[in-house]
Amino acid sequence: MTQKALVKDLFAQQFNSPAEFVCHAPGRVNIIGDHTDYNNGFVLPAAINYGTTIAVSARQDKEVEVYAYDCDSQKDIFSLNNIVFDKQVMWSNYVKGTLQALMRKYPDINGANLVVVGNVPQGAGLSSSASFEIAILKAFSQLYQLDLDGISAALMGQQAENDFVGCNCGIMDQLISAMGLQNHAMLLDCKDLSFEEALIPDDLTLFIVNSNVKRGLVDSEYNLRRRQCEQVAKYFDVSTLRDVSLEQLNSVQEQIDPLLFKRARHVITENSRAVATLDALKNNDMAAISIAMKESHASLRDDFEVTTKEMDGLVEIIDGVLGVNGGVRMTGGGFGGCIVALVPSAMVIHVKNAVNGNYERLFGIKPSIYQCTAAQGAFR
Ligand code: GLA
Repeated sequence: MTQKALVKDLFAQQFNSPAEFVCHAPGRVNIIGDHTDYNNGFVLPAAINYGTTIAVSARQDKEVEVYAYDCDSQKDIFSLNNIVFDKQVMWSNYVKGTLQALMRKYPDINGANLVVVGNVPQGAGLSSSASFEIAILKAFSQLYQLDLDGISAALMGQQAENDFVGCNCGIMDQLISAMGLQNHAMLLDCKDLSFEEALIPDDLTLFIVNSNVKRGLVDSEYNLRRRQCEQVAKYFDVSTLRDVSLEQLNSVQEQIDPLLFKRARHVITENSRAVATLDALKNNDMAAISIAMKESHASLRDDFEVTTKEMDGLVEIIDGVLGVNGGVRMTGGGFGGCIVALVPSAMVIHVKNAVNGNYERLFGIKPSIYQCTAAQGAFR
């Protein structure tokens, strides 16, 4: 059964009437450019064919009633007039925070009945929460015919995370979920939110493996990494690391804390790699993509220190098969979750066999493999 059919059925069961709309927002995979977005840098993600689907109907009052199929079929009900954080029902805070952000621009919206289903693995670095936020915004935007564009929606989703949920994430996840283009990767300049796209060649698979080591960004060291980057920017008296060059950083290596130096070096070099990878994709230059992704992983492992031994192991296993014929690296916030590989179709079977044959044997955990295509964003 498709997600759409499932969500419609569940809605009819829960609310005894058909839904008015069904909306979908994709998760994402970041091909390269991690921990750069909140430094006003460059990222190169693609939306994927996994996401959150919502069935929705309007209400005459201010109540919001949500049934979350993938969160143990839990239900929550709250009023738009009284939105408060609830430690007990974590998933519902994404709905609340998103609607609070939406109401800053559209204070007069009414409530809704919603059923949510999703197939983005949670806590895996594939943006299940951003796809949830963007799907909610799309649902309310359709329901109340709001003139909401994708960039504004992305900013609202980010606001929900920053101000309500408590994760100081950047803009990448929400923006690509809203504005992704089918079969394309997007180089996003997080400084002014301008973007440029490149076709992902037909014979390349977005091959994603979940290490199944879970760790939520909110509890992780994500916010600490962000503060460390801000400290270095402050040292240079600029607002973000986007405005610091590698030469400038190298010239003060003796003066700043070695740990902060490494953090900043990752961000600055990662920006160049993201930009270079867009060109390499356009030119179908697999060797260049391969090198950039390899360097990105090493930098996230050694300088930014956000990988795990399981993620490093997966990258090594896959790199051993691909060589310069494909690229592989960790993806997302890190501290567990997924790796991404760009794999030529003819090599997919070999990569799969290598992962299935080695990962569990070495780390005692079963991997989950997702073969993805680049999907269309919810507001595109
Ligand atoms: C998480 C955040 C993003 C980004 C990545 C790391 O996915 O939500 O904003 O910072 O981590 O690149």
